Amino acid sequence: MARSGKVSVIGAGFYGSTTALRLAEYDIFDTVVLTDVLDGKAEGIALDMNQARWIEGFETKLVGQTTGPTGEGYEAIAGSEIVIITAGLPRKPGMSRMDLIETNAKIMRQVAENVAKFAPDCVIINVANPLDEMTALAQIVSGFPYARVIGQAGMLDTARFTHFVAEELNVPVSSVTTLTLGSHGDTMVPVASVCAVNGKPLSDLLSAEQIDALVERTRNGGAEIVALLKTGSAYYAPSAAAARMARAVHEDSGKVMPVCAWVDGEYGLSGAYLGVEAVIGRGGIRSVVETPLTPDEKALLVQAYEAVLAKQADVKDL
Ligand code: LAC
Repeated sequence: MARSGKVSVIGAGFYGSTTALRLAEYDIFDTVVLTDVLDGKAEGIALDMNQARWIEGFETKLVGQTTGPTGEGYEAIAGSEIVIITAGLPRKPGMSRMDLIETNAKIMRQVAENVAKFAPDCVIINVANPLDEMTALAQIVSGFPYARVIGQAGMLDTARFTHFVAEELNVPVSSVTTLTLGSHGDTMVPVASVCAVNGKPLSDLLSAEQIDALVERTRNGGAEIVALLKTGSAYYAPSAAAARMARAVHEDSGKVMPVCAWVDGEYGLSGAYLGVEAVIGRGGIRSVVETPLTPDEKALLVQAYEAVLAKQADVKDL
């Protein structure tokens, strides 16, 4: 496939820089722009990554750009088809994602305003936490149509669930199908009823207690890593998820992915950003898919919706 287009990553922390490198290594974009507010950081990382091109065999160029508090430097993202927002603080051990809401809302406001100004036609992929709320805020501030603002979480949570199932049964991850919906937080809904290994239902392979333990570990998947790292949060699996979503947009692939998307009547729920399965293409979300759920799973999804709806109502005032 020929190389084309520009994708930008806001924030050159571990999450942002790893995402930028993954995108560059796909070798499908002309340019990957990486920005950061720390003077020289993005430029240094981009230069370092560009020097890996000959070794790893990719031609995509990385451009690093320091940005200022009133939008200086943002012209570097002009013409981006996709902008991935990673700017914001990560959790510390013992914190919930929700503890970040006020600090990250301030950062998101500034970033989303500049993204809308300098890349008005892009698809925004937000990864900042608390995920569902920051995605809602990115849409409010940018004023973009809902379909062009997506959050990354379901891909990551599903990947974690898949890893735990594969480990438990000692099978390849490629043989495992899992799914998580709901929020990227306490009301995450790991959907055990659709989980399977080589098409065999998970409930035929593991006891209800074993499945419950994997579900619980998935819900706490991010916190488990934060507790081990002691400083910062996960970024290898998160960046893989964000980069694959960007790739699906760029390639207009029509892939169905679990993402944070605006619901408008699906499952009988409306008016919030929620973790659901959706068809991803060039314009962002083509459509939300209603995955069949058991009554219990549906009840948990409604609970997640109610939780994010309440928080997202507050977010516009932050
Ligand atoms: C996690 C953070 C990135 O789940 O939300 O690891």
